[in-house]
Amino acid sequence: MPIPELATPESIQHAARILRDGGLVAFPTETVYGLGANALDADAVERIYSAKGRPRSSPLIAHVDSIEQAKSLLVTWPEDAQKLADAFWPGPLTLVLPKAAHVPDVLTGGLGWLGVRQPAHPVALELIRAAGKPLAAPSANPFMQLSPTTAEHVARGMGDAVALILDGGACAFGIESTVVRIKPGETQLLRPGAIPKLLIERVLGHPVVDAQAPTDDVHASPGQHPRHYAPRTPLMLWRNVQGLPPGRGAVLFIDVPSPASGCDSIQMPSGAEQYARQLYAELHRLDEAGYDWIAVQTPPASPEWAAVHDRLQRAAHPG
Ligand code: TXA
Ligand code: MG
Repeated sequence: MPIPELATPESIQHAARILRDGGLVAFPTETVYGLGANALDADAVERIYSAKGRPRSSPLIAHVDSIEQAKSLLVTWPEDAQKLADAFWPGPLTLVLPKAAHVPDVLTGGLGWLGVRQPAHPVALELIRAAGKPLAAPSANPFMQLSPTTAEHVARGMGDAVALILDGGACAFGIESTVVRIKPGETQLLRPGAIPKLLIERVLGHPVVDAQAPTDDVHASPGQHPRHYAPRTPLMLWRNVQGLPPGRGAVLFIDVPSPASGCDSIQMPSGAEQYARQLYAELHRLDEAGYDWIAVQTPPASPEWAAVHDRLQRAAHPG
């Protein structure tokens, strides 16, 4: 299992050489850790799918160092794209737009649409610049499992499938980017994430249409399986205090402690952003601790919790 290396100018140069040679490098972003490869090298991108055990139909995000580099991968750059990039880049927003012909099809699951994002984490930006290429990077976890928010999570989950793990500390957002598709005449929310939809609509001055794959649809749209973002330990949303199963359980609560005796209660933050920052780290920790089940108090229904709701519902989905 590779030992994470502290991100320094030297280790970043080393990582860039691995990427230029077609290898895989895990690196920190402000959302979650990414599993990176040269986005323009079809064989390298292929290695990402093998390492994650991810179906080829599930498209990857290209991480870029600038709006210019994003444009070089796309056929159009509409006004909505410019507005959103001006407001949120570098940062946790992915824009999905028609891809340029030279971008390998394997990157987009043959869709013709490419997700691009300029990450804000300085290590991610330095790495893209050092490699001199856009980096294809899904979250650095095996398919359907929990996303990593520390370098140790990556080492535990991916093992030897990755040549080098750059350690840039814990991720500031701790939840994935918001994914928005910009179509002529309609801008769609494909995945709720670190940036609330409301803020995006405020910048655009018009509504964003919900188009994310429902958690009850087994034939979900690309990359958003109904079960996803899940710990190994069975997780349930705790709506019914009487319904907790036997065995050693852990309860994540916000404001209603300990629904049953004999289980461990963990208080989570009452703010959506703070909650999101801690959620995956907490679930990783509970997985390691070997509980029989995890019950999570359903968070408030208000819009700023949309991304947390989405992840919890997928984590709780039986598959
Ligand atoms: O925060 C993030 O977005 C992290 C960091 C590493 O940047 N990346 C990430 O990638 O979460 P991944 O592959 O685990 O999830 C990306 C999701 C896909 O599952 C899919 O739902 C959507 O973004 N997506 C990406 N490209 C798309 C496309 N061309 N069409 C439709 N959906 C797309
Ligand atoms: Mg992922």
